Amino acid sequence: MNQIQVDLGERTYPVLIGTECLEEALNSLLPDRVQKVALVTQSNIGIIPSINVEHEIFHIDNGERAKTLKTVEDLCSRWAQWGLTRTDVVVAIGGGLVTDVAGFAAAVYHRGVDVIHAPTTLLGMVDAAIGGKTAVNLSEGKNLVGSFWQPVGVVCDISTLSSLPEREWRCGYGEVAKYHFLGAQDLDQQDLAGKIMKCIQLKAEIVREDERETGRRAILNYGHTLAHALEMEKDFSLAHGEAVAIGIRYAAEIAKILGRIDQKRVDEHETVLEYYGLSYKLPSSYDWAQLVSLFQRDKKAVDGISFVLDGPEGIEVVKIEDQEILIQAMEALQ
Ligand SMILES: NC(=O)c1ccc[n+]([C@@H]2O[C@H](COP(=O)([O-])OP(=O)(O)OC[C@H]3O[C@@H](n4cnc5c(N)ncnc54)[C@H](O)[C@@H]3O)[C@@H](O)[C@H]2O)c1
Ligand SMILES: [Zn+2]
Repeated sequence: MNQIQVDLGERTYPVLIGTECLEEALNSLLPDRVQKVALVTQSNIGIIPSINVEHEIFHIDNGERAKTLKTVEDLCSRWAQWGLTRTDVVVAIGGGLVTDVAGFAAAVYHRGVDVIHAPTTLLGMVDAAIGGKTAVNLSEGKNLVGSFWQPVGVVCDISTLSSLPEREWRCGYGEVAKYHFLGAQDLDQQDLAGKIMKCIQLKAEIVREDERETGRRAILNYGHTLAHALEMEKDFSLAHGEAVAIGIRYAAEIAKILGRIDQKRVDEHETVLEYYGLSYKLPSSYDWAQLVSLFQRDKKAVDGISFVLDGPEGIEVVKIEDQEILIQAMEALQ
């Protein structure tokens, strides 16, 4: 088993990475005081580790529509009925949806109980389960209600990915592709475990520097402004990572229009996305004006529209002064 530390002072925690290691790693992370473990997962995942203390399985539904305050309320009610106390532990076993929902419920239940994440999707391992962001959606937007709640540990058992459907691999690779441009070196020369570890390492570094996203952590949103708008506009018919792939290519186009990068660098974006089998064309069915209006709801849109863009100084948040270029860049992605 390999270990990467997320260094956050008293909230420091380990990410354990290996194969066939789920049970051993989970049990090793349980604090001695724990009497009950609430396992939160989805019924179709079918990964139920055996835990050394009393435990119960709490299923939540599938899909972004289940990522709501109602699901959090239901979970907390069921925990309370079962007698989960503030000194017990929640273990989330699933993709980003499960870790986001269970993480947020853990953050607010009894004003905060410990949570351990066991991501079972590639996206969960390289992104969602690391860094302590938790959230649920409102009808007004994705991830609008949430909190920073660092887990006490994360277990990435790569063998759990063996049942992952092809589309979920593509989703994960959308985020892995993102790390190429955030500075992960030689990602394409690594095997799967190596890729996952390099991505976690980089995310851990960024989170350590800026836990609460007051600065550098925003670069993790590379490709995400358009991605979130695409997801919202068509009611999540594009999966997150698929939307991120289009968003990454779109951000490259905006950066080129602004003179921040050249065509060669745009081509590099396409090569990386193609390497992961990702499509980056903007489907013609989207309403461009509607997408631009959705950009205004983006978390970064404090004062006008901002994008995370590549450039001579690397990836950074850039305010868009001329909104015409947003449409111009969409034309280029047809
Ligand atoms: N908190 C963060 O920092 C962060 C970062 C990125 C994404 N996210 C969130 O993560 C969510 C997306 O996560 P996701 O892509 O993992 O999707 P997901 O959690 O919805 O999982 C996708 C599908 O795969 C299934 N699944 C999970 N593990 C499986 C396995 N091992 N075998 C077979 N099927 C399996 C799930 O049941 C689900 O049907 C979004 O809600 C997004 O907002 C959060
Ligand atoms: Zn993402």
